[in-house]
Amino acid sequence: MQDLNWSKLPFGYVKTYYNVRSVYKDGKWGEIEVTDNECVNIHMAATVLHYGQACFEGMKAYRGKDGKIRLFRWKENAKRMRHSCEGIYMAQVDDDLFYKMVSKVVEINKDFVPPYGSGATLYIRPFLFGSGPKVGVQPADEYTFMIFVTPVGPYFKEGFKPIKIAVVRDSDRAAPLGTGTFKVGGNYAASLRGVIKAHDAGYGAPMYLDCREKKYIDEIGAANFFAIKNNTYITPESSSILPSITNKSLEELAEFLGYKVERRPVEFTELPGFEEVGACGTAAIISPIGEINDLDTGKIYKYCPDGKPGPVSVKLYETLVGMQFGDVEDPFGWVTVFDF
Ligand code: PLP
Ligand code: COI
Repeated sequence: MQDLNWSKLPFGYVKTYYNVRSVYKDGKWGEIEVTDNECVNIHMAATVLHYGQACFEGMKAYRGKDGKIRLFRWKENAKRMRHSCEGIYMAQVDDDLFYKMVSKVVEINKDFVPPYGSGATLYIRPFLFGSGPKVGVQPADEYTFMIFVTPVGPYFKEGFKPIKIAVVRDSDRAAPLGTGTFKVGGNYAASLRGVIKAHDAGYGAPMYLDCREKKYIDEIGAANFFAIKNNTYITPESSSILPSITNKSLEELAEFLGYKVERRPVEFTELPGFEEVGACGTAAIISPIGEINDLDTGKIYKYCPDGKPGPVSVKLYETLVGMQFGDVEDPFGWVTVFDF
């Protein structure tokens, strides 16, 4: 194994020892294969290559002070992957196979779970795609489910420091009755125009507004949006955003910590009234937002005047991350501790 500078890792790909795979054929999933092959050999007419039959999940394994490796709410990822598969007519994986493959791939790559205190984690990427051939537009008969892992650092280079966001109105990542609630590859292809536009303007990620009226806030790149006002955790209700497991956990945690919680359409015009705003997700964890630039009007909304995350974001971050690493008691039963 190569020497890794754990505390300097970016959010990117590092080769590990093995990945795991299973193929769905004739109506059932086959044996789990463990391989060090980083490539996939599929039919050139596979539906994933032409018609975008593909979905993925993003999870992390956390190493605690006790050296033990933990997972956070894996059943929610398994459930969301089935929701994605259902949404684009792919074969589904039950909890049992999902957990078997996740635990296997973490165990055989456990050297790559970063040490406690390094700030890094092992990112787990389950993905499933149509590997069988079709030329007409229809679902494949064969599917491949794979998981690779890679040690990662923060998604935004700022880490837990305020990030800058640009509002994008001239492209949408998903339509109101489209695939926004599914974690399918096509949404990320569609998001690239906004992502590149934001990056080119010097911003970390785009803010997407609702596509019908551009009146409500949808989400932030590959993360959900939240705001804090009057001791209330506010997050958008929308039919075109990904149901984030981190966001759902923060809603439950906020309530547990005594804050009010509102899941409702959030108007863009509410931005000046918010005390704190942030992006949340597995990769993004909680990324406080320090600046939102409306590229079309030139108006800039600023938060974190002292350059530091606000107190509610800090409290939520410390509690959530504390539970994930095993430092804070988990009263919800969200954390699974591996025994290897
Ligand atoms: N929104 C989008 C578009 C995402 O890709 C992600 C990442 O998974 C999220 C939100 C956050 O979801 P989660 O907290 O389940 O990782
Ligand atoms: C995650 O938060 O796990 C994501 O999926 C983000 C990713 C698209 C890089």
